[in-house]
Amino acid sequence: QAGPAILPSLLQCDFGNLQSEVERLSQAGTSVLHLDVMDGHFVPNLTYGMPIVAGLRRHTSLPLDVHLMISDPLAYAKAMVDAGADMLTFHVEAVDDAVDVAGQIRDLGVGVGLAINPDTPMSQLDGALDGVDMVLVMSVQAGFGGQSFNPVALDRIRDLRARFPDLLLEIDGGINASTIGPARQAGCDLFVVGSAIFSSDDYGVAIAGLNDAMAS
Ligand code: DX5
Ligand code: ZN
Repeated sequence: QAGPAILPSLLQCDFGNLQSEVERLSQAGTSVLHLDVMDGHFVPNLTYGMPIVAGLRRHTSLPLDVHLMISDPLAYAKAMVDAGADMLTFHVEAVDDAVDVAGQIRDLGVGVGLAINPDTPMSQLDGALDGVDMVLVMSVQAGFGGQSFNPVALDRIRDLRARFPDLLLEIDGGINASTIGPARQAGCDLFVVGSAIFSSDDYGVAIAGLNDAMAS
């Protein structure tokens, strides 16, 4: 993964036309797709699982970054990898032993991310970061698109970037043309975007605008 990237989140897209959505996103210059998997238990919302991941895998060669908002990530990790996930991110709040879970996911041969919600103390990440490729700093409480950005995420990104210069840092929630610049300046690499892309008729224009805002 070279340089910063904008990752469209497949949550507010048209699920009746997934293949065309993915084509439009590819043509708009997307390099990675972010998939929001919710189980109605870890978060009070329910989205999709392996069949959708496998269906997407048949239609695109883009890397699939799968954000597991589920209570038991290990129960589905292998099935997600078999379905075509390239990266699996689980929540530190969901597990008792993040080091063990990260190790078991790594053994499946995919990248491992560890996500943390805004109201979870950063100390919960202590000792777990050696075994992960990426930290997903949530800038909204996981569960729904369209929420407003919580600036606590900026301090967290800054702090992680200072302590772990080579760790991949991803931010998710409320990223738009006004929040992406500060997040980039704080040291973030990967920017997950839902509403700010899918509210636009032209994904290419939306993504170009975000790239400009990120650079300024
Ligand atoms: C929230 C999801 C996000 C969400 C982002 O739980 O993880 O990926 O789709 O959507 P926006 O950009 O609308 O905040
Ligand atoms: Zn997400």
